[in-house]
Amino acid sequence: THEAKIEALLAKMTLEEKIGQTNLRGVSSRATSLPTDLKESVRKGNVGAFLNIMNLDYVDELQRIAVEESPNGIPLIFGRDVIHGFKTMFPIPLGLAATWDAQIVEKSSEIAAFEASAYGIRWTFAPMLDIARDSRWGRIAESPGEDPYLATVLGAAYVKGFQSDDLSNPYSMAASAKHYIAYGAAIGGRDYNTVDMSEQLLRNVYLPPFKSAIDAGSATVMSSFNEINGVPATGNEFLLKDVLRGELQFDGFVVSDWDSVTEMVYHGYASDEKHAGELAAKAGLDMEMTSTAYENHLKELIKENKVTIEELNEFVRNILRIKFRLGLFENPYRNKEHKGNFYAENHLKEAKKAAIESTVLLKNKQSILPLSEKTKVAIIGPLANAPHEQLGTWAFDGEKEHTNTPLHAYQKASTNFMFAKGLGHSRDKSKKGFKEAIDVAKKSDVILFFGGEEAILSGEAHSRANIDLPGAQEALINELAKTGKPIVLVIMAGRPITITNIIDKTDAVLMSWHPGTMGGEALYEIINGIESPEGRLPVSWPKTAGQLPYFYNHKNTGRPADSVNFVSIDKIPIGAWQSSLGNDSHYLDAGFTPHFPFGYGLSYTTFKYADISISKETINFSENLEVKVSITNTGKTAGKETVQLYIQDVVGSITRPVKELKRYQQVFLKSGETKEISFQISAKDLEFVNHKLVKAAEEGKFNLWVGPNSAEGLKTSFSLKK
Ligand code: IFM
Repeated sequence: THEAKIEALLAKMTLEEKIGQTNLRGVSSRATSLPTDLKESVRKGNVGAFLNIMNLDYVDELQRIAVEESPNGIPLIFGRDVIHGFKTMFPIPLGLAATWDAQIVEKSSEIAAFEASAYGIRWTFAPMLDIARDSRWGRIAESPGEDPYLATVLGAAYVKGFQSDDLSNPYSMAASAKHYIAYGAAIGGRDYNTVDMSEQLLRNVYLPPFKSAIDAGSATVMSSFNEINGVPATGNEFLLKDVLRGELQFDGFVVSDWDSVTEMVYHGYASDEKHAGELAAKAGLDMEMTSTAYENHLKELIKENKVTIEELNEFVRNILRIKFRLGLFENPYRNKEHKGNFYAENHLKEAKKAAIESTVLLKNKQSILPLSEKTKVAIIGPLANAPHEQLGTWAFDGEKEHTNTPLHAYQKASTNFMFAKGLGHSRDKSKKGFKEAIDVAKKSDVILFFGGEEAILSGEAHSRANIDLPGAQEALINELAKTGKPIVLVIMAGRPITITNIIDKTDAVLMSWHPGTMGGEALYEIINGIESPEGRLPVSWPKTAGQLPYFYNHKNTGRPADSVNFVSIDKIPIGAWQSSLGNDSHYLDAGFTPHFPFGYGLSYTTFKYADISISKETINFSENLEVKVSITNTGKTAGKETVQLYIQDVVGSITRPVKELKRYQQVFLKSGETKEISFQISAKDLEFVNHKLVKAAEEGKFNLWVGPNSAEGLKTSFSLKK
């Protein structure tokens, strides 16, 4: 029925109104009233959607003009970057990915949509599904991490949470799977940088999360800033038409990224704004974000027959389809009774749960954590009480006044602590506060050092070449270590932080990402054993930025590194001549393994894996393989284990990664309890896109591991045969 209504509307629309639907506009945040010319544009039907309008009177007035005064009464969509919460902030997406928990991700997006819809926001520019293999890239914070399977599971969960089962639910938001595509592969981890990759890699690693989001019904897709193999994604006909529409059967609309249409001029792909508009239109881009190539030139381009009216009609159909699905024609206005329940008890509860589940325990020497009740702690560090910073990137609407920091949590729950910040902020290089911090440390039993990065050091346009703790944080930790007191380092950051220089000075390390509104209580409960840290790394943790890009699912090379052949820089005799010793693929000064592998995370308890078995030695293309393993909680407390199944296709028509995550399950075990876990996989899970660009599984031997992370596990193998 929507299609018939769309056609009926199209038949009535003028060329100008059709072009209007492709316009996504903003209102300057400095505007003190709605600009008259903007109102006039909406009245004429020359705007299709707005972004970032947070003045509710403007939202109401613009929608009223669109519905009541524009020629065909087509409602506007209001969009915003509601990425990991609206007011109630959840952990940054990389933190949410560390939960490995689709239900948490879905719930966080559902709450974000509920709160944001109170502002009339029915469209979010999320989820970001760019595989990120380089922690220097600032936007890794917003990503699902480095693994396509995990991103595929979580991508669908985001869409479901934002959109609910029915997009016409007024508390839902249309999702936008972004950034299509391969934005995370920017050379050197430098934002917006060039991407050059084989089509096999694109299809095997970067495309699956988008397919998953589209299968889950993502209403929109955002084209990315980067070029791929010489063609900017925003003007890429092959990717937007052949792959997205043809293969993935996407029927929503594609929006450009901010100015990414006209940026094709800077890429050196379009000669001017008009040419950029032509290239984007020919590629099948439906809506232009903020730049004005379509608005200024589409009419002329159609007149000159460079773009056809049918091409424009198709853009309008795609946009109207989503407006219909959102129920905007029946229900265009923001529900003024809906106040969003910002920071409602259940929202905070879910945000706290997400922060707890996302926290990864990286080190726990002699089980120093959890601390006993009597431990007197010194709370030190620039992130101990930094309400704004712990919200992370894309926290437009999160309010620091509502943020619960670790210091707040201690103030509420304990008297057995002292506080000295030591450093004003994460980049502070001054040592002025050191003395006070050291004095406090001396009077304590344990130092809790809350360090990391301010929010602004990750996210869009905030890549770093050096990902150590910034400022004088390492220096302060070194000084604190001299007191002889144990140090628990709690990192809040938008990316893995290289801690090779100081990890030996610490007794425990917790990674809490930027944990959001409830980060303080979540960490308090973990540190004090009320909850246990159960997060697992969604990204390999490098020893040094010089190892990047690093990802566990790499290829083997002809000279795979191993610990037998590895020769470190210290072992090379001074004056040594060219030698083939240790001639395999590693760095002399960083080896070949990360500091912590993908999937890694400790618990307050321990788990034992035993008795791996497979249902058959050989399966055919229509059979399932059942893999069983038994997991025992061998520690003293209950805990959740994330049981991970990896495979390796030993020989392929193109070389295959050394390991690939194919399944995982989270299992809760009481102390001493054993459970048998069973996984099913089939030939479908073994498929990959080969050099002929055919997706198929190939006969042969497969290694299989079930374990606690990508570097450990029980191993078996099986074969696939016709
Ligand atoms: O959604 C974002 C995108 O991720 C980066 N550029 C701006 C867009 C809208 O704010």
